[in-house]
Amino acid sequence: MANENEKEAAARASLRFVRDGQIVGLGTGSTAAYAVRLIGERVRAGLKIRGIPTSAQTEELATSLGIPLTTLEEFQQIDVTIDGADEVDPQLSVIKGGGGALLREKIIASATRQFIIIADSSKQVSVLGKFPLPVEIIPFAQPLVAKRIADLGAIVKLRKSADARPFITDEGHHILDCHFDRIPDPPGLARKLSDMPGVVEHGLFIGMASVALIAKGSEVQELHRPAPR
Ligand code: A5P
Repeated sequence: MANENEKEAAARASLRFVRDGQIVGLGTGSTAAYAVRLIGERVRAGLKIRGIPTSAQTEELATSLGIPLTTLEEFQQIDVTIDGADEVDPQLSVIKGGGGALLREKIIASATRQFIIIADSSKQVSVLGKFPLPVEIIPFAQPLVAKRIADLGAIVKLRKSADARPFITDEGHHILDCHFDRIPDPPGLARKLSDMPGVVEHGLFIGMASVALIAKGSEVQELHRPAPR
């Protein structure tokens, strides 16, 4: 329950970044869902925005709340995106994809001027990697990619759905959950993963978040991405 209150507090704090007339990326996951619901309330009270959802799940939620939606076909520049995270480190490097939406989330984040992460206090870490890193892959390449990632030191598991079949992403791919335990060099690992044929995208979001809003109890800390060293 504490986490739920923190998720809501972080989501509420993100509303001040959303203004009339903006194109707003709508994140995926339980924390982002709080933000989408709060944006829905503001829209009903007169806020004029258009949302671009990062998953089919968020599209359904936003539609049910009456949030006007648009697409990348109409807008290739997004003003602000509010999204959750599985882990956030002090550089505001982030692991995402616990909910399986990392590919669309990263595409939307890459087109966003101000990418805001909202999270409860359990997501803040000093080093990324306790949370298994989701890597979205082409099903054909699975054995090869799984071996190559295992060779980098991870325990690799194919994500399964409740019916024990492989989890299928919105774009029709599989996900490998890669337990590294510690990722001391996120940019280095990101490059290695991006260079592997068969990897569609990975859940390391580096240099993308401009602000992280981390709730601790009822306080919300606003962290800014430090300048690159
Ligand atoms: C969805 O694919 C993810 O990137 C989520 O944003 C992330 O897993 C955080 O989800 P929760 O807010 O549900 O913890």
